[in-house]
Amino acid sequence: MDISAFVFLSSSLFLFYFVFSNAVDSITQSQSLSDSKGTNLVSKDDGFVLGFFSTGNSNNRYLGIWYNNISVRTVVWVANRGNPIRDSSGVLMLNSSGSLVLLSQNRTVVWSANSTQEAGSPVVELLDSGNLVLREKNEENPESYLWQSFDYPSDTWLPGMKLGWDLRTGLERRLTAWKSPDDPSPGELSLGIVLHNYPEIVVKNGSKIYCRGGQWNGIRFSGGPGGLKTNPVHNFTSVSNKDELYFMYHTIKKSLITRAVINQTLHKYERYMWIEADKKWIAYFSAPQDTCDSFNLCGAYGNCIIGYSPICQCLGGFKPKSPERWNPDDWAKGCVRTTELSCKDKDKIGFVKLVGLKLPDTTYSWVNKSMNLSECRVQCLNNCSCMAYSNTDIRDGGSGCAIWYGDLIDIRQVAGGGQDTDWLDVYIRMPASKKVNQEVSPPKKKVNQEDVIDKQKMKVRVAVAIAIAVVFGVLLIAYCICKRKNFRVNLVIAVILLMEYAYMANGLYAWLT
Ligand SMILES: *[C@@H]1O[C@H](CO)[C@@H](O)[C@H](O)[C@H]1NC(C)=O
Ligand SMILES: *[C@@H]1O[C@H](CO)[C@@H](O)[C@H](O)[C@H]1NC(C)=O
Ligand SMILES: *[C@@H]1O[C@H](CO)[C@@H](O)[C@H](O)[C@H]1NC(C)=O
Ligand SMILES: *[C@@H]1O[C@H](CO)[C@@H](O)[C@H](O)[C@H]1NC(C)=O
Ligand SMILES: *[C@@H]1O[C@H](CO)[C@@H](O)[C@H](O)[C@H]1NC(C)=O
Ligand SMILES: *[C@@H]1O[C@H](CO)[C@@H](O)[C@H](O)[C@H]1NC(C)=O
Ligand SMILES: *[C@@H]1O[C@H](CO)[C@@H](O)[C@H](O)[C@H]1NC(C)=O
Ligand SMILES: *[C@@H]1O[C@H](CO)[C@@H](O)[C@H](O)[C@H]1NC(C)=O
Ligand SMILES: *[C@@H]1O[C@H](CO)[C@@H](O)[C@H](O)[C@H]1NC(C)=O
Ligand SMILES: *[C@@H]1O[C@H](CO)[C@@H](O)[C@H](O)[C@H]1NC(C)=O
Repeated sequence: MDISAFVFLSSSLFLFYFVFSNAVDSITQSQSLSDSKGTNLVSKDDGFVLGFFSTGNSNNRYLGIWYNNISVRTVVWVANRGNPIRDSSGVLMLNSSGSLVLLSQNRTVVWSANSTQEAGSPVVELLDSGNLVLREKNEENPESYLWQSFDYPSDTWLPGMKLGWDLRTGLERRLTAWKSPDDPSPGELSLGIVLHNYPEIVVKNGSKIYCRGGQWNGIRFSGGPGGLKTNPVHNFTSVSNKDELYFMYHTIKKSLITRAVINQTLHKYERYMWIEADKKWIAYFSAPQDTCDSFNLCGAYGNCIIGYSPICQCLGGFKPKSPERWNPDDWAKGCVRTTELSCKDKDKIGFVKLVGLKLPDTTYSWVNKSMNLSECRVQCLNNCSCMAYSNTDIRDGGSGCAIWYGDLIDIRQVAGGGQDTDWLDVYIRMPASKKVNQEVSPPKKKVNQEDVIDKQKMKVRVAVAIAIAVVFGVLLIAYCICKRKNFRVNLVIAVILLMEYAYMANGLYAWLT
């Protein structure tokens, strides 16, 4: 081999190494990622990879982003969700007019980034956050990115990603589930923010609300117990102004890896944390959490209370609309007033304060963040279709005014006994003959068949737990006093079986309830 050929070969290899080795986090116009060559982008801190992948047993190829350091491949974003490439011909590149395009055979455009401006010297970079961005070479300001994958989420909400609206451009960022674990094309389930006057976070099934996370009250979403709230793992940021309306979260400890996903198979929104020791994701929050999270289960003025029978109760001053047929099929019919409201005479109208409730659906609502509660009351009193009012922000003793028009729906009990202070009180319009401004606690829990069964189940569970503990103790003593190795090994196996048995018993119990 002559020297020039050697120099050419080694410099090509050198170039190849630098352009295509896993250490690259960006490409420019002269470079590309190719499925057949197996080239990837890896973010600077090694957290995320952009590359080609298949799902299940299919040969369909997708361009996507997944965690680099996690042994269970977890895809967080897919470019060509509904448009797979059938072979390994996929190439991601910046074409000569600066657009980011994904090409398949015969240079067919399979997917392209929707940038509004043409770039002069564009760079595509995979950031440490997992955000794939298209920007001008020297432009570092996120506001000036030409395009970013965080603006077009798939099913995963990552830390630092905005969920909500850019009101200037009308861009909505929401999560859409994969159709199935093997098919990333958009499914029916989505998580997003609906732009009512008083915006809410909702899970939708197609165009219908499936589960309502509720409104942001300054420290949490009003939707459900243990719900979306700042906690030791992640905190929330809420931004609402004339330009933008979004929610964002950050993982408080940098070393923790968390994600939130909308999952069509589970019919759930779930929040996961990676447990490196066990090499698995654990879900630490999911919605819907219980029956009462089903949207509008109890109908107008119905209050869904877990543990009550029937689970739907009417708010104080209301009675079932169809009393003789108060069964599950009729719950949705809701409740009606025991005493009709007179609209004209304001002296005959008052408001009853209810505590620990999920704020009603805000499809028909009105908000003024500068008003205080007494102004809010007047605002509501002055309009006959106003049925309730509340503060919008719970911090510093409460501020802002929200009012509800028409029937109040999708109410549930979220807190009991005044222990929780995270919930806004809501004031409901009532005839003045009803006691005004008195706290109405939910009706006393009725003893019923289900409770008796619950108690029996509890007894069985305790008995099983004690039995297991005793057997475990005996085995432990046997292990300590016996020195024979085989016997000890058998004991360890016995303990493992015992633990599995306990786990199964627990599962059986959960299934029974
Ligand atoms: C990924 O793993 C590498 C090597 O173990 C480590 O240096 C890096 O900090 C990790 N990055 C993240 C984001 O966990
Ligand atoms: C680059 O890709 C964009 C998007 O597909 C397309 O509109 C444009 O015509 C392409 N430019 C060239 C030179 O092919
Ligand atoms: C690519 O182009 C060739 C020649 O025009 C054609 O025979 C072939 O079917 C094309 N392949 C695809 C996948 O479109
Ligand atoms: C691309 O942008 C246009 C105009 O803003 C929008 O109508 C279209 O839905 C966008 N396409 C995608 C795939 O986001
Ligand atoms: C979503 O809606 C479809 C059509 O109405 C229905 O068949 C399906 O069961 C719903 N899924 C869930 C999770 O409610
Ligand atoms: C959330 O936590 C991140 C990381 O610790 C921090 O930078 C940010 O300021 C916090 N945001 C809020 C609203 O507390
Ligand atoms: C959704 O749930 C299914 C069933 O448990 C699981 O196989 C799949 O991995 C989940 N998807 C995500 C993105 O977590
Ligand atoms: C909101 O309330 C404040 C204080 O009462 C008032 O000055 C302002 O005009 C109200 N804004 C609207 C849009 O009603
Ligand atoms: C509410 O605001 C009005 C008008 O600014 C003021 O007169 C009133 O004292 C305030 N009430 C309370 C309870 O702060
Ligand atoms: C009461 O509010 C409704 C709903 O916003 C509105 O249509 C109606 O005009 C209002 N009535 C009065 C008297 O302000």
